[in-house]
Amino acid sequence: MINSENKAASYAIIGFGKIGQALARAFARNGIEVSVATTRDPESFASDAAAIGRGIIPTTLAEAVKADVIFLAVRFESHTDVAKALPNWQGKIIVDVTNAYGVPPEKMGGLPSAKFVAQAFTGGKLVKGFNHLGAAILNQDPAVHGGRRVVFLASDDEGAVAEIGALAENLGFAPVKLGSLSEGGLLVQAHGNTWGKLIFQDLVKFD
Ligand SMILES: NC(=O)c1ccc[n+]([C@@H]2O[C@H](COP(=O)([O-])OP(=O)(O)OC[C@H]3O[C@@H](n4cnc5c(N)ncnc54)[C@H](OP(=O)(O)O)[C@@H]3O)[C@@H](O)[C@H]2O)c1
Repeated sequence: MINSENKAASYAIIGFGKIGQALARAFARNGIEVSVATTRDPESFASDAAAIGRGIIPTTLAEAVKADVIFLAVRFESHTDVAKALPNWQGKIIVDVTNAYGVPPEKMGGLPSAKFVAQAFTGGKLVKGFNHLGAAILNQDPAVHGGRRVVFLASDDEGAVAEIGALAENLGFAPVKLGSLSEGGLLVQAHGNTWGKLIFQDLVKFD
């Protein structure tokens, strides 16, 4: 994929826990380089990164946010700390993999969770996605019974969702676009103590 400067797009995963590592495995499986960062010194998780693959680059949060596409794989409550790493996220796509299950809706001003997250990343384009499956499933090869495992994507920015859709295909998944964050996108967002209706639906698409 090509970024606005006509260079290959760069990728980072912020958060290298269960879901961050499952995402990293998809990048490694397809030979696509990705930086990974947490709050910790990169040396502390270098062996975990190396165990997944050579192209998984442990780095600092400050370095990781230089990427064109940033997967947000931290707990929902930590998204504001990540957002503070840059004053402006213009030109970047944030893929929101968090699940705000159990967060009182009034704490998000009544907004869908991804809209609330988007507000923190001033100037950035947000795509909600890769969040509807448990880490143990996302961790697996998405080539299943001759089909491809579905990931749902939603965004208010058509260009951003097209780019992440192409990346999802390159990672071996079948992207299904749900529309904007406040419409189809609600199906993959938790609201209070209710899961979106498509969360946990492990689907496979046959072309
Ligand atoms: N687990 C699942 O099955 C699953 C499925 C779908 C979606 N999700 C969502 O994915 C997100 C991550 O879940 P998880 O299960 O992977 O959690 P986890 O295992 O607890 O991992 C969280 C990661 O985030 C890092 N982190 C925390 N605060 C950070 C910050 N301010 N800056 C950078 N890194 C930070 C942690 O590293 P340090 O604290 O060591 O720095 C850790 O590597 C959550 O929002 C969850 O709702 C999880």
